[in-house]
Amino acid sequence: MRPAQKPKVVLIFGTRPEAIKLAPLALALKTDQRLDCRVWVTGQHRQMLDQVLQVFGFSPDIDLNLMQPNQTLGGLTSRAVAALDQCLATEHPQLILVQGDTTTVFCAALAAFYHQIPVGHVEAGLRTNNLKSPWPEEANRVLTSRLTSLHFAPTETAKQNLMREGVDETKIFVTGNTVIDALFWVRNKLNANPDASKHMVDRLRVPATFADRFLVNSAVARNQVVSAAAGSSPGERDFFNRSRHSPLILVTGHRRESFGRGFEDICRAIRELAQLHSEVGVIYPVHLNPQVQHAVHTILGGHPRIQLVEPLGYEVFVWLMDRSFFILSDSGGVQEEAPSLGKPVLVMRDTTERPEGIASGTCRLVGTNPELILREARLLLTSESEYRRRSALKNPYGDGRATHRIVEACVRFLCDGKKGKRINDLRCPPDYVRNLKKNNRIG
Ligand code: UD1
Ligand code: UDP
Repeated sequence: MRPAQKPKVVLIFGTRPEAIKLAPLALALKTDQRLDCRVWVTGQHRQMLDQVLQVFGFSPDIDLNLMQPNQTLGGLTSRAVAALDQCLATEHPQLILVQGDTTTVFCAALAAFYHQIPVGHVEAGLRTNNLKSPWPEEANRVLTSRLTSLHFAPTETAKQNLMREGVDETKIFVTGNTVIDALFWVRNKLNANPDASKHMVDRLRVPATFADRFLVNSAVARNQVVSAAAGSSPGERDFFNRSRHSPLILVTGHRRESFGRGFEDICRAIRELAQLHSEVGVIYPVHLNPQVQHAVHTILGGHPRIQLVEPLGYEVFVWLMDRSFFILSDSGGVQEEAPSLGKPVLVMRDTTERPEGIASGTCRLVGTNPELILREARLLLTSESEYRRRSALKNPYGDGRATHRIVEACVRFLCDGKKGKRINDLRCPPDYVRNLKKNNRIG
């Protein structure tokens, strides 16, 4: 078949988490002979998007380069819909794929809907059922679902959410989350390189005293292998005792609903934790949103055991998650990755659309209340039994084969059967669900 005759599928994304979660799919679809795959980026993020493209080694076919400093939701939305409208009018793909809950996702789905082009939504069906949290992401997900033809739900829970909203079961595929595919891809890359740790420390560019104490000489650093999801290795079992003299706490935070008071409280809690526990080191790659930068640097700057660094490339970040004692974060992606790495997460949000991590015990909601953050962090630092229970390796978000399932569903949609039958014919083979349930060690 000549390339021009193959059905054209376009992956559209714009921010760091979408890029990480669609990278495995882009790599697979680009090499799949049955389809003609293109990658378009809105550039909703710039530096943080480019970091991901670099790690996975591919460049977009179209880059709309839309990001503006301190952009507003309305401004970005109007620019993205207008720009994508033009691209779709020119390129006429047979299917677009989007991922997650950002402005880019909703705008791409809306623009495709106006052109009557089917939408495949990766990571479909996550819900808090609270339009104010996460804001505006809950609305982006709900609205995108209304415009979607193929729903790639990462878990059974997400599928049930969609069915409750009236989505036809035959259009829903339980695939696992592609973030686990990305995590395994990076883990394998790191483990294949005997000098990975040295390179990662170099890239972090933290002061030598901090690196020596918390990254190089810590007991954890001696275990060079990133352990994701394969089951506890004997070396890991004494992690608590080996780490307690120099535990590293990894922090990320960027949620809009926490801007202002919530963010200041989070930062105060982190500073107090470092004051109360002189053994602790904190590393915080600060999101580039100016609202985040301001609060974080004002409250946390200048402390020798709190390192504020630039956003990190995905490889370095995975390596750092693996070396951390626990993670403080409001990130969606981190909540999904941490169970596979056996790292407890204190989730600095009031709600989560990812209940599986909570059910597995790895993640615990602490909101932005400084007393609660402090209490929960101190519990993990001091209680071995609590730490052990919450750091067991779990796999609730998939088995690393979500990409394969999504590719096959797209091929069947685009290449098999008559147009009218295509969607209805798609069924999620029962072994997908069985394997996911087997690999998911939740109760
Ligand atoms: C966006 C998403 C959020 C997602 C997050 C992941 C929306 C509404 N929000 O939030 O769902 O969880 O990305 O990180 O879609 N900036 C840079 N360089 C970058 C990235 C951002 O300078 O590479 C700065 C710019 O000033 C930009 C601002 O951050 O205007 C906000 O970026 P934006 O994408 O609008 O919102 P995020 O808070 O990053
Ligand atoms: N991440 C990264 N570098 C960082 C911080 C996070 O590569 O400095 C990764 C992280 O592993 C996860 C994703 O970025 O896969 C999460 O992105 P973010 O927190 O920005 O967005 P969210 O997941 O909350 O939408």
